[in-house]
Amino acid sequence: MANKQPFPTDLELTALDPVFRECPHDRLDRLRAEDPVHLMDAERRLFLTRFEDMRAVLADRSLSKDFRKAPDNARQRAMRGDVPLEATEPSMLNLDDPDHKRLRGLVSQAFNQRSIDAWRPRIRIIAEGLLDALADRRSFDLISVFAAPLPIIVIAEMLGVDPADLARFRRWSDATAHVLNPARTPEQTAELNVARQEFKNYFAGAIDARRERRGSDLISLLVAAEEAGDRLSAREIEITCNLLLVAGNLTTTDLIGNGVLALLRHPDQLAYLCAHPERVPHAVEEMLRYDPPVVQIARIALEPRKIGGKEVDAGQTMTCSLLAAGHDPALHSDPHRFEIERGDTTHLAFGGGAHFCLGAPLARAEAQIAIATLFERFPSLQLDPEHAVEHKRAPMFNGLETLWLRAV
Ligand code: HEM
Repeated sequence: MANKQPFPTDLELTALDPVFRECPHDRLDRLRAEDPVHLMDAERRLFLTRFEDMRAVLADRSLSKDFRKAPDNARQRAMRGDVPLEATEPSMLNLDDPDHKRLRGLVSQAFNQRSIDAWRPRIRIIAEGLLDALADRRSFDLISVFAAPLPIIVIAEMLGVDPADLARFRRWSDATAHVLNPARTPEQTAELNVARQEFKNYFAGAIDARRERRGSDLISLLVAAEEAGDRLSAREIEITCNLLLVAGNLTTTDLIGNGVLALLRHPDQLAYLCAHPERVPHAVEEMLRYDPPVVQIARIALEPRKIGGKEVDAGQTMTCSLLAAGHDPALHSDPHRFEIERGDTTHLAFGGGAHFCLGAPLARAEAQIAIATLFERFPSLQLDPEHAVEHKRAPMFNGLETLWLRAV
């Protein structure tokens, strides 16, 4: 018999809702089966739960990511906090072509597979250093001592940030992430604005220093591109560096945390992985499918179109549930089972189309190295029963606040 409950809307489809946080798939499965292109709220946003619809939306270059082109609505005002629309300068993440293509083109060289492969030995040394510091600890919170610092140290080194500035860099990274949380508190908005200003000042100085003396770091590469072709302004460089923090740090932390939790909750899979360490890259893909760090991304229709048989008007927003995409029974057999050797790990965890995650090779390398080094060092890790696993309350991200483990 059909479920007569009203369909969930807006925040009920995010981790701000306690029921969704604990068990998102009840709601997502129901929507996929009964209303896969779901009208979500008074602002007429659509919520998509079928893999194929989302793949088509993400591949469609006629759709926009530039929120300035959507009708100004309450959610966008909340996302901007106190910052007026005219004052928000979007990064490549929220620009359409030709600006998007120009900015992405300039940074992409640093993030291609070859450049990232060259970083692997260094990432391993950083991971091992963090684990060395845990040698005498019986119990630790994996997020704060390992999963969070690892990507921050790596990106700071890539940017050429002085190691003495790491603590500040980490604070900015955490505060800046509030930009993606429409439900942030006034205190978090204040922290965000302070972090933005400090970050801006710091990078203005760093860019000037690179003009004087060029190095081999990422900021130097961006400055060189600017000087060679007058194509990136100092402000664009700073916005791009800021994006790398927002887009890259928390997400990679969440991938490591969610992945380790999945392994510890599936001891047969963990035992398999420890016996077959060469399968770590495949296991990371299954982690991205099963419990992705970014759960929602959106596109704006600039013209009327159809999606999944439904009419979409110009100005309407389509939200893709990347969590639902990885659990679509049309694609994945027994989708809610975590299984490293499943044949069908296809996912949209890094998005798709023109905005496909620029940092995917780096995120994959960091997660693979983190998982491998952690279980090499601590083959019999367990969840610490004295601490509950705590999920973050963020609408677009999916991760753990803390993950307490016991080394037995
Ligand atoms: C597991 C970790 C990560 C996940 C799950 C992730 C996910 C995503 C997703 C879903 C998008 C597309 C957003 C959209 O289309 O609306 C994206 C874009 C992006 N990501 Fe990642 N990301 C991760 C790590 C990183 C890292 C490590 C970096 C770089 C340091 C990075 C840099 C970017 C950038 C620059 C974009 C914008 C690309 C564009 O607009 O063309 N990401 N990411």
